[in-house]
Amino acid sequence: MEQYAIKGGNPLVGEVEIGGAKNAALAILAASIMTDETVLIENVPDVRDTNVMMQAMESIGAIIERLDRHTVRVSGKAIRDIAIEDDFIKKIRASYYLLGALLGKHNKARVALPGGCNIGLRPIDQHIKGFRALGADVRIEHGLIIAEAEQLRGGHIYMDVVTVGATIDVMLAASMADGQTIIENAAKEPHVVDVANFLNSMGASIKGAGTDVIRIKGVSKLHGTEYAIIPDQIEAGTFMFAAAVTKGDVTVKNVIPKHLESISAKLMEIGCEVEESDDAVRVVASKPLTHTHVKTLPYPGFPTDMQPQITVALGLSRGTSIVTESIFENRFKYVDELTRMGASIKVEGNTAIIDGVSKYTGAGISAPDLRAGAALVMAGLAAEGTTVIDDIKFIERGYEDFHLKLQGLGAVIDKVNSERELQKFRLKTG
Ligand code: UD1
Repeated sequence: MEQYAIKGGNPLVGEVEIGGAKNAALAILAASIMTDETVLIENVPDVRDTNVMMQAMESIGAIIERLDRHTVRVSGKAIRDIAIEDDFIKKIRASYYLLGALLGKHNKARVALPGGCNIGLRPIDQHIKGFRALGADVRIEHGLIIAEAEQLRGGHIYMDVVTVGATIDVMLAASMADGQTIIENAAKEPHVVDVANFLNSMGASIKGAGTDVIRIKGVSKLHGTEYAIIPDQIEAGTFMFAAAVTKGDVTVKNVIPKHLESISAKLMEIGCEVEESDDAVRVVASKPLTHTHVKTLPYPGFPTDMQPQITVALGLSRGTSIVTESIFENRFKYVDELTRMGASIKVEGNTAIIDGVSKYTGAGISAPDLRAGAALVMAGLAAEGTTVIDDIKFIERGYEDFHLKLQGLGAVIDKVNSERELQKFRLKTG
C-alpha cells in the first residue's frame, strides 16, 4: 500500500504551477459528449477522478484521445448506450454530471448512484427536482438513477440549497431542452461559470452564470469546440496554506487571483503577507500565525474544500480559533488524526474550537478523504519528526503529482510502497 513519508520542519520556498480545476474538468468532460462533433479540452488535470470520468465515458462509446498529459480530444458521436452502470462510477460523485449530459443530449440516462468523499450525507434531491422541472420522469431502481423524457422542455427551478452539483447538472440538461430554463438560487462557484462558458462555446445560450439566477435558452444542437479549463482554486489554496504552516514563501502560478480572494483574506488575517499579480499569488509567512474565526460558505465565501487546510494552520496559530462547517455535516473526521500529531481541537457538531499549539509532532496517520488528506500532509510538513500517511489514494483523486510539487518547494516527502522503502526514507532523512 502506498504511503507518503514526510520529514517535517522545512519551510516551503519557491514557485509551483497550479493545474486545471478538477471539479470544472469533471463537468466539462461530461458536457463534451453532448455534441456529435469533436471537442478539444486543454488543462485537464491528470488525477484519479478525471481519469475515472473518462473511463466511464469510454464505457458508453465515447472516443477519448490523450494528445498530451493535459489535453484530450473527445468524440461522443458513437455513443449508443445511455447506461453508466460500472462499478467505477461509484468511485466519483461527479458521475451525476453524465446524467445531466445524457439526459440533455439523448433524453434518457441511467447512471449509478454517486459515491465520492465520505464527508456526510450528500443527497441529490435538487438534481432530481431540477430534471423533473424539465419534464423528465426520474426514478431510482436497483442503485441506478433513471431519468427519461419524450422531449425535455424549459422550466423554472428554485434550488432549496445552494448546490454546485445540481446547478451544473440542470444547466447541462437544460442547455438542450426545448425553451427557456431559469435556475434561481444557483451556485456561483468559478467552475459553474467555467462550465457555462464551455457550453456557450459549443453553441449553448446560458446567461447569468456566476450570479444567483441563470437563464438558459435551449438549443437543439451543440457543436465542437476547443477550450482550456480554469486553474484549480483548491489546489492553489492548499499550497498557499502549506506556505503558511511551514513558515515559507511560496508563489502559486497560473492562477486567477480573484478566485482566491476569500483564501488570501484569511491568510492575511492570521498574519501572512499575500501579494497578487496578474496570474500568480505569493504567500510569505514570516511572523507567528494568529487566531481567527471562519465559516465555510458557498462562493464567494470561504470554500468547504479548504476547511481542513485552514484548521491545520489555525491549530498552529496563537490563541483560540473557531471553524464552522456550514456545507457538509461530517467534515471534521480528520481532527482525530491531527490530535495524534499534538493538535488541541474540540469538535462540537459542525464547529471546531481550536487552541493553537506551538508545534505538531510526526505520527502514523490515515487520510480520511481528499482535502483532509492534503491537509494532513501539510501538518506533516510542519511537524517535528516523521509522519507517515496511509490511504493516499484519496489525495491522488484530486492532486496531481502532489509530493513532486511539494519536493519542488523543498519539502522532504516521498511516496513509499513497502516497509523497506519506509526504512530507507527514515535512514536517509535521519
Ligand atoms: C461539489 C464539489 C465538492 C465541494 C462542494 C461544495 C465536485 C465534484 N465536488 O460537491 O468538492 O465540496 O461542491 O463546494 O464538484 N445538497 C442537497 N441536495 C442536492 C445536492 C446538494 O441538499 O441535490 C446539499 C449538500 O448536501 C451540501 C450542499 O447542498 O450540504 C452543497 O452541495 P453541492 O454544492 O452540491 O456539493 P457537490 O456538488 O456534491
